[in-house]
Amino acid sequence: MVQKVQITIDGKSIELNVLEASEGNNVVDVRGLIAEGIFTYDPGFLSTASCDSKITYIDGDAGILLYRGYAIEQLASQASHLEVCYLLLNGELPSSTQLAEFDASLKDKQTVDKQFQQIFNGFARGAHPMSMVGAAISGLASLYHESTDITDAENRKTTAQRLIAIIPTIAAMAYKHGRGETFVEPDPSLGYAENFLNMCFGETGKPSTISPVIAEAMDKIFILHADHEQNASTSTVRMAGSTDCNPYAAISAGVSALWGPAHGGANEAVLDMLMEIGDVSRVAEYVEKAKDKDDPFKLMGFGHRVYKNFDPRAKVMESYCAAVLAERGVENDPLLKIAKALEKIAREDDYFISRKLYPNIDFYSGITLKAVGIPTELFTVIFTLGRMPGWVTHWDEMLSAPYKIARPRQLYLGEHQRDFIALDAR
Ligand code: SDX
Repeated sequence: MVQKVQITIDGKSIELNVLEASEGNNVVDVRGLIAEGIFTYDPGFLSTASCDSKITYIDGDAGILLYRGYAIEQLASQASHLEVCYLLLNGELPSSTQLAEFDASLKDKQTVDKQFQQIFNGFARGAHPMSMVGAAISGLASLYHESTDITDAENRKTTAQRLIAIIPTIAAMAYKHGRGETFVEPDPSLGYAENFLNMCFGETGKPSTISPVIAEAMDKIFILHADHEQNASTSTVRMAGSTDCNPYAAISAGVSALWGPAHGGANEAVLDMLMEIGDVSRVAEYVEKAKDKDDPFKLMGFGHRVYKNFDPRAKVMESYCAAVLAERGVENDPLLKIAKALEKIAREDDYFISRKLYPNIDFYSGITLKAVGIPTELFTVIFTLGRMPGWVTHWDEMLSAPYKIARPRQLYLGEHQRDFIALDAR
């Protein structure tokens, strides 16, 4: 039995269907309103479901995050990032044979064309790696434009695998160029996370010296960032992809959206904030700034549009953070002390409690990445790397069923129509 709701506008009663979810919120189907000349209004889309999806489920009140039905806590503790990439893309966990084939397929796609590597030379030393990563991802369209038939499911899967395979190499090249160091080619004998770290911190022709503890922590960080439903950057990928544009262009749009400090750029902003605070004695002063309506300062790494009790990823990240700090012997890092003081105050202060502002994944990922010696400018690039499987899976899901170009309407508050005034009469 389909549930219905009724709205009455200008005396006219309109009946709308309620579409039932398999988990979480049902939705009111407002598609018929345009025929009645009616728009809905929801800036920031807080109450809007932009699509239907089978990929990821979030319950913000209960702190639940499921990738294809599997809880993030189980995936982070028992799976590898490659297993999670396969799960997101294909909907099921891979068998050993499927995982080996997937791994081999990605390894075939992880090198960057020598001529294409010149793209990095257009950037000055010290350029932010995200500017280079976004340009390089978009530039890949020049290499694969002709062969990209987005209507063909197999072609889409190949594109998705290529982007998951190549993003570590592009990210490492951006980092190396920014530091004026020579590129390290991908090493197919290494796992996904270790290969990325070796391309950043290793030397061509020399065996990897990456710590297994650090490589494992990085693999888990990728899992925790792999997907998150219709967040701003994923919605950007879907919106761009709905124009039938080249997939590398659609994903590059997602990279741009993720860069913002209100989104994926928050992990870098957390470290910048901790360094600006500088000492535990100044934490209270900055908490007051964050509460001051007239002060644009916000506590980076706190708050979330959906999670209103805790971010389950932050809890997992917090446990890995503690393990890494202990392994690195930096439990007494001064920035960590500031972070712990911030967290304590925020958990006790009514301003944050009443607004349900808790530490999110970026709060702990920023501290963990610093503890493993990752330079701050690479933090958001690592988020990009982690989120790539989510972006390409949502892109593929959207194109796998009938879709329309995303074209929202507006509430117009501008001038009524008026006649042009000649220049000499103004
Ligand atoms: C990510 O959507 C996703 O899923 C994103 C993400 C993913 O995996 O894709 O989870 C990744 O982006 C995590 C969020 C990272 N961003 C930050 O840590 C930046 C700091 N956080 C804020 O910018 C903010 O909390 C947002 C952007 C995360 C959420 O913003 P909302 O949902 O629009 O909430 P809001 O701005 O309307 O805030 C509600 C109230 C406001 O105060 P009042 O007007 O009610 O008095 O809370 C206040 C805000 O001023 N507030 C904060 C705050 N966050 C919200 N005050 C101080 N510090 C903060 N961090």
